[in-house]
Amino acid sequence: MKNIDSYTLRKMWTDFYSQKGHAIISSASLIPENDPTVLFTTAGMHPLVPYLLGAKHPSGNRLADVQKCVRTGDIDEVGDASHCTFFEMLGNWSLGDYFKQEQIRWSYEFLTSDKYLGIDPDRLAVTVFAGDDDCPRDEESAKLWQECGIKKEHIFYLPRSNNWWGPAGVTGPCGPDTEMFFISDAPDCHEGCGPDCDCGKYLEIWNDVFMQYNKTADGKFEPLKQKNVDTGMGLERTLCILQGKKSVYETDIFVPILQKVRSLASKSDEKAERIVADHIRTSVFIIGDERGVTCSNVDQGYILRRLLRRAIRFGKQLELNKGDLSKIALTVIDIYKEIYPELYEGKDKITDEINAEEERFEKTLSSGIKEFEKLVFYQKGDTISGKAAFRLYETYGFPVEMTVELAREHGLKVDVEGFESAYKEHQQKSHAGAEQKFKGGLADHTEAITRLHTATHLMHTALKRVLNDPDANQKGSNITEERLRFDFTFHRALTPEEIAKVEELVNEAIKADVPITCEEMTVDEAKAQGAIGLFTSKYGERVKVYTMGTYSKEICGGPHASRTGELGKFRIIKEQSSGAGVRRIKAVLE
Ligand code: ALA
Repeated sequence: MKNIDSYTLRKMWTDFYSQKGHAIISSASLIPENDPTVLFTTAGMHPLVPYLLGAKHPSGNRLADVQKCVRTGDIDEVGDASHCTFFEMLGNWSLGDYFKQEQIRWSYEFLTSDKYLGIDPDRLAVTVFAGDDDCPRDEESAKLWQECGIKKEHIFYLPRSNNWWGPAGVTGPCGPDTEMFFISDAPDCHEGCGPDCDCGKYLEIWNDVFMQYNKTADGKFEPLKQKNVDTGMGLERTLCILQGKKSVYETDIFVPILQKVRSLASKSDEKAERIVADHIRTSVFIIGDERGVTCSNVDQGYILRRLLRRAIRFGKQLELNKGDLSKIALTVIDIYKEIYPELYEGKDKITDEINAEEERFEKTLSSGIKEFEKLVFYQKGDTISGKAAFRLYETYGFPVEMTVELAREHGLKVDVEGFESAYKEHQQKSHAGAEQKFKGGLADHTEAITRLHTATHLMHTALKRVLNDPDANQKGSNITEERLRFDFTFHRALTPEEIAKVEELVNEAIKADVPITCEEMTVDEAKAQGAIGLFTSKYGERVKVYTMGTYSKEICGGPHASRTGELGKFRIIKEQSSGAGVRRIKAVLE
């Protein structure tokens, strides 16, 4: 097995798949575009859903990439050996091209060949789908693994709960998978210990999904038009295995961040150090993203706020000083600047936002102290209720540990269990696993959504023209059947005249009933033609450019209406702030 660093692993991955005829595509933004079902990109397949469902990808039907991902569902587990809220996923895709045979052989080659990871085949175990009423047992994959050289006793058949992959949203492409594990030196924790046990003996490296179904909103599995392969290898976890470490926090990615945390801290506590390192790393990627967001009380901004406030809280345990978190952020930027240049370009924005949130949190904390004193004044009995402690947390961002500490100074106790259950109840109701907050379909390209998406393009260009600001750029888009929602960078509220003018321009484009055309080209060609959109391509890959007469030209995956005349009347129903320097518009088609 080779001890390789993160740079080498990323490069090995893209080189390997490029040699197997794949186009290497750039990581998509962490903030999904036009997808109301999830807040963040949670897997490499996520930005590719339209292509997995049958749309033609401009770079071909064999793709590979390294995708930025955020998953905060396990935020409370961060600090152990393996959980992180941000990770990079190495992925490759067949869009109706090769299937099980090629994928399993290539997986084996990449894992075991001396040219690549060089893992001893006897240290590998794999799982395959055991079969159920909806989908048969995957004997084919098991046979292919055995032919490659995986020992029969290292092939495990597991049920749907283990060996089935569906997307983060409620609907979308899915299918049975086969997962690859590294068998560590740890002893079996019990008889029958296997890859489905989380004792740490079996470490998951890679997941090959054989995507054959589309899960519809009514819970049915309909066969996909094409059979796809979707794979994902967690960069951090794989590095941990290759570098022979017990934890992802000991790999080349985290060591410099933790060193920085320790150099600034006055106290040491491994868990708090890891939480600060993880949460600052994720915040850097969220703020510094091409469609980066700032703190707010909703959606992505809420998750960012939660991450930063947790980092501040745990930073207090380590006795970090004000401003230290942004210094840690600079270390994160330094580690990634070559791979993700947007972080270096956005470094002032990133450190400003972290410092600003630190200020804001300080202020809420001092209002919280006043509220706490009132509580003590009216307190009957010696225990502050869980509900009251939760209200302090919810309204003032008051960590329960702090409430306990303050209560102690007043000779009082806190019902921490009551707090935990109030917290859990709230989590289930609202922000829990908040990537999945929205209902709707990942695959829901209904006509209404498609028309609103087209209207979004027309409005984007109209805004730039009316505001006379080429930098009034899209920051986020969220479309439901009923309305479009569009966030863009602009520093002040729009006047009623400007809003009316934007409506007028969009309605003029609709009235002109021009055809909408789509062309494939390289990002440089798109730029030369004056298309708007994100130009973050690193590999000169091809993109789609949608043109709507002279009214709009934009890089986009589609789909769109075929003529602007199909849209109906466009009306803006709301214009408001959505964080510092960002405006939000909601609009409808009538
Ligand atoms: N989409 C699959 C996963 O995330 C590969 O595990």
